[in-house]
Amino acid sequence: MNVDYVARRARIAPALGLTDEIFLVGAGDPLAKPEISDAMLPFIAHQEYYYLTGLADASGGIIAYDPASGWISFVPTVTETEQIWEGRQQLPGEPLAKFPAWLGARAGRRVVMLGAPVAGVRSDAARTAAVRAAYQHARRPKELAEINLMRRCASATTAGYAAIQSLLRPGVSERRLQIELEAEYFRHGAQVTGYDSIIGSGPNAAVFHGAPSARVAQAGEFILIDSGAQLDRYVIDVTRTYIAGEPSAFQRDLYQNVLNAEWRAIDRCRPGAEWRDIHFGAAVDLIDGLITMGLMKGSATSLIEQEAHMLFFPHGIGHMLGLGVRDASGLEPGRTKDPRPCLASLRQDLIVRAGYIVTIEPGLYFIPALLNDPVRRKKYRDCVNWPLADKCLGLGGVRLEDNLLITATAPENLTAAIPKTLIPA
Ligand code: GLY
Ligand code: MN
Ligand code: MN
Repeated sequence: MNVDYVARRARIAPALGLTDEIFLVGAGDPLAKPEISDAMLPFIAHQEYYYLTGLADASGGIIAYDPASGWISFVPTVTETEQIWEGRQQLPGEPLAKFPAWLGARAGRRVVMLGAPVAGVRSDAARTAAVRAAYQHARRPKELAEINLMRRCASATTAGYAAIQSLLRPGVSERRLQIELEAEYFRHGAQVTGYDSIIGSGPNAAVFHGAPSARVAQAGEFILIDSGAQLDRYVIDVTRTYIAGEPSAFQRDLYQNVLNAEWRAIDRCRPGAEWRDIHFGAAVDLIDGLITMGLMKGSATSLIEQEAHMLFFPHGIGHMLGLGVRDASGLEPGRTKDPRPCLASLRQDLIVRAGYIVTIEPGLYFIPALLNDPVRRKKYRDCVNWPLADKCLGLGGVRLEDNLLITATAPENLTAAIPKTLIPA
């Protein structure tokens, strides 16, 4: 990625709200695989470190800032063994061995420590929490280089979804779809997937983070695919739901309901909008649709006040996206987490601004663990058409997810080119 990290650090430093604290961000250390061997898990530099350095492989690295003397990057000294076995080259920066003296020269000053903890250094917990919130907030608007990289991830992802359209038929296994989808990402420049692809047919379409299995789709079953390509640590996070064969009228209505809610939520993604209003707006649209379909009873607002929407829409409307699948989601500075149970999995509570990239991902599901729970059945006995809900158990669910770049006017849908029809393209 073509990023000027010196310029980025110069932009970030004043946004941190530091007075005289020392600011440290650790890359983290490699982890050995659990068995007794010399093999390591793939090293992933902490996101807060990577954003400031672009150094993906600097295990043990530290980027440090002293308001009085500026930024300094300490990197590990490459060993002969690493050169021989891994082909590593020395990274630019100061040797890590110089870090203790640099810190010692600042003894007595408070330390704010983000990223992975640096061994032997004590930080000020309250200041660290406040500075982390400020740092997250400062990196929310995407730079042009980040947006361009996301566009490349989106086109690799588009190629993957296009390649599997003809396979979305009865008899295809979740695993086959994963193999063809991901291979196409890689052919189009992706290095890895942004997260473990989620592919579920039939009842598995209602498992939020379900891994693809050998299960074969039957005629008339939903196939839900939540997957995206990754490049240089930036990811796309897209969900589509298709049908194997012919949909029933009920499945068409369910799909259309989620699609309508998605369109409307996307249109609400304007600068100044409150994320939680976008979430609740989508909940109202989804529940209105379920009332029309005869699955829920009453008014959408009253059902949502009772948290009855959580039976069918138990997750949040989306999150920030970019450097990782949650990127800098979280709270607007100065806010605390809203304690309402129905917002427990809403991954952010903030004001939408131009330059943010967010997902919008409404869904409706028939989840046995929720719908068969006697406590919920009793609590919501008058809210749900239970005989109809019982018939739907096993149907799985529908989710649609796109990635939006917020602009001054309507959002730009970065994933609009990915086929979004119930019947595969
Ligand atoms: N891909 C997982 C999620 O959307 O949260
Ligand atoms: Mn997703
Ligand atoms: Mn998502």
